[in-house]
Amino acid sequence: MRLGSLPISLPREPRWLALSAGWVPMKVPAIGLAATARWPGRGAPGPASGCGGAHPAQDAGRGDTAVMDITTPGQLTEQVRAAYGNTADPRLRGLLGALITHLHAFVAETRLTPAEWLAGLEFLTAVGQACDSERQEFILLSDVLGVSSLVEEINAPDGATEPTVLGPFYRPGAPARVMGEQIGRPQDGSPALVRGRVEDPAGQPVAGAALQVWQCSGNGLYDTQDPGQPPFNLRGVFVTPSDGRYEFRTVRPVSYPIPADGPVGDLLRAAGRHQWRAAHIHAIVSAAGFRPVTTHIFDAGDPYLDSDTVFGVRDSLIRPFRPAGPGDPGDVRHVVDMDFVLAPAEPG
Ligand code: BEZ
Ligand code: FE
Repeated sequence: MRLGSLPISLPREPRWLALSAGWVPMKVPAIGLAATARWPGRGAPGPASGCGGAHPAQDAGRGDTAVMDITTPGQLTEQVRAAYGNTADPRLRGLLGALITHLHAFVAETRLTPAEWLAGLEFLTAVGQACDSERQEFILLSDVLGVSSLVEEINAPDGATEPTVLGPFYRPGAPARVMGEQIGRPQDGSPALVRGRVEDPAGQPVAGAALQVWQCSGNGLYDTQDPGQPPFNLRGVFVTPSDGRYEFRTVRPVSYPIPADGPVGDLLRAAGRHQWRAAHIHAIVSAAGFRPVTTHIFDAGDPYLDSDTVFGVRDSLIRPFRPAGPGDPGDVRHVVDMDFVLAPAEPG
């Protein structure tokens, strides 16, 4: 399922979650936890069965969008919300209030048991312990739960190239490249020409736009994961001239598995999900006076477009890597055309 093809409508206020003093029915969307749900934990498996009892969430036979009435100790929820009600920063106050409301609704709807709660905390502890200066397991968790993608989507300006996940392999300081330069080595894969234009929403070229690109090699590894690659292999920054056009040489991207040797990998395995990202080239496009966009170019021929493990695929970012023809440069085997549209920077 591609996020970009889904109509997303987010409530501006928590209209679907009615709280008042006392034990009250809360309307919450059913989230479809199976009765045998099991939290993954490293060395400490969770309980064999999840939501116990005959909770309506398991009886309703509902789909993901069903709304049900459940009973929750609303007085406690209100009490906790009130305890954070004096938070000085209004945005933080709102975020905390919503977080408390939704966390409490999750616990109430699933009838979370103490053992499940502990298993969840152990899982989050393992996620934290897997983080170091090189690895950010929490971002990976956010990625595989679709949260990173959702945050990008709801903050995207209209009329611009759709954004998608940054991912953990971005590395600042990539070298400036000459227009048309090859950013990889012959052994990285099948040579491809990527070209297009950076423009504003009215179709006018954007001069001086910086196009920062990176991708993995044909072995599915980024330079930061693979001592066999020179630093900044398959990375580079290109700056557009007055016509907004760019082109660079690289290799046709391949699908690759995300790191799955930590707790996020345990989660994917528990859920029966695969670890593969659809083949892509990363890009951050920025220019003075415009909002930068963090995005990808996806290969239309990739088998994982519909099941990308981090929910990063957007239909508008899929392009054919067509075979090079007689009119194309002789040193490439594939050509892909991709224009980027930047939205104007917000005032202030
Ligand atoms: C990536 O495309 O580099 C990536 C994104 C999210 C998780 C892992 C890898
Ligand atoms: Fe990637």
